[in-house]
Amino acid sequence: MSTASPIADALLPWYRENRRPLPWRDTRDPYAIWLSEVILQQTRVDQGRAYWHRFMERYPTVQDLAAASEDEVLRLWQGLGYYSRARNLRTAARQVVAEHGGRFPADHAALLGLKGVGDYTASAIASICFGIPEPVLDGNVYRVLARVFGIATPIDSTAGRKEFRALAAELIPTDHPGDHNQAMMELGATVCAPRDPDCDACPLVRRCVAHARGNMTEYPVKAGRTKIRKRHFNYLIIPAGDGLILQKRQGRDIWQGLYEPPLIETARAIGERTLLQELRTILPGGKEIRGRSPRIKHILSHQHIQAVFWHIDADLGGQVPASWEQVGKAALEGRALPRLIERYLQEDALLKGA
Ligand code: ADE
Repeated sequence: MSTASPIADALLPWYRENRRPLPWRDTRDPYAIWLSEVILQQTRVDQGRAYWHRFMERYPTVQDLAAASEDEVLRLWQGLGYYSRARNLRTAARQVVAEHGGRFPADHAALLGLKGVGDYTASAIASICFGIPEPVLDGNVYRVLARVFGIATPIDSTAGRKEFRALAAELIPTDHPGDHNQAMMELGATVCAPRDPDCDACPLVRRCVAHARGNMTEYPVKAGRTKIRKRHFNYLIIPAGDGLILQKRQGRDIWQGLYEPPLIETARAIGERTLLQELRTILPGGKEIRGRSPRIKHILSHQHIQAVFWHIDADLGGQVPASWEQVGKAALEGRALPRLIERYLQEDALLKGA
């Protein structure tokens, strides 16, 4: 074992004894590892595992994923959130096929050139699959380092990122860098928990500055929370055939590429009168409001959405927006929907039974 640092020396044996038996830990296939790391970026292991299996079954190789349609990939991703990850996944797979002959490059800088692959993912692949000593920094690693070294520099500042990266780079051993990185993440995920760390089980407890001071939960320090954006979504539930009208979300915004009912977004909550005014600009023909849902709150990491589903009877024989698509009940299964929409439609009598 190299003696890059006493920290690394204490960490590796602990990891080998205590690591969770995750399916992607039995492989060094960069495709399988990349997929797991992209899934785990914003998803807990418990939930991510099922999606990883699903993707590996449907697309066993990077070539299979590269050949899939975006709609299909988004459908398989449904429920995981942060859908740009799914779109980027497919784009990066196509890059690997087109630019690297179907093999992931064994090089940190080249990995960074893949769509959606940032420093974290590039370092994870480089270290786990190719044994390159690049440090991985995710939320768990920041917490572990901040506590063990008692660092009060905010992790969401430029100075903080620089300081933590330099420290992580110093700690990483040249042999088994992949296990070391995973050990840091694993310790943060399973022992060095944000609120209630299990210090008795920690292999670094004797070296931990925060533990000695008894102020573990004061780390890591954050400078400022990102501002939450409040949005008001008015969805139009317009029955059509045995289904309803949907459209595909466009533009650089949440849920890009997913399907939703026609949407009127407003600066504040609106009533029937305002809705009808807005409706007139979209739908010149006959229409009538049949009812509305209560206001439903949907929380994303940086946005709070208040949604109302307005049930509309509309004359679809006249002029309707070109983006509107009539989607039958059976075809709905194949469409990727934001969780908010999926839940509502499941509850909604319109599409149930009958
Ligand atoms: N979280 C994300 N990737 C991980 C990994 N490889 N090991 C442990 N936790 C993780």
